[in-house]
Amino acid sequence: MRVALYRRGHFNAAHRLYVPTWSDEKNQEIFGKCNNPNYHGHNYDLEVKVSGEVDPETGMLIDLKYLRDIIEEKVEEKLDHKNLNTDIPELRDIRPTTENICYFIYQQIKEELGEKYDVKVRLWETPRNSAEYPAD
Ligand code: NI
Repeated sequence: MRVALYRRGHFNAAHRLYVPTWSDEKNQEIFGKCNNPNYHGHNYDLEVKVSGEVDPETGMLIDLKYLRDIIEEKVEEKLDHKNLNTDIPELRDIRPTTENICYFIYQQIKEELGEKYDVKVRLWETPRNSAEYPAD
């Protein structure tokens, strides 16, 4: 029996969206307020979906405490109260957009869970804007 479990997470972080080789005008045009040179913060909300086969002996897909610990250690502790442009090596040379942060989080969790589970990550940058990886 295939089933999915969900676990939510949360962190606060700062970022600036810009392309260093572009002019100030072009960065402002493309990224708007997110190009503020002194950075700005978001309250990020996160939902991790883990799918797979239920273990017939335990009746469980995955130990939710284990999933909670992974999200805490691999995502929240790494990203919370950080500057995403400077503090996270994997994001340093790319734009810390919702899309790229979402993919980074997916990689962190997938690396830990391995092939046994399918993982999907949804990341809200604001209550109205979110990204999902992998996409349908
Ligand atoms: Ni922003």
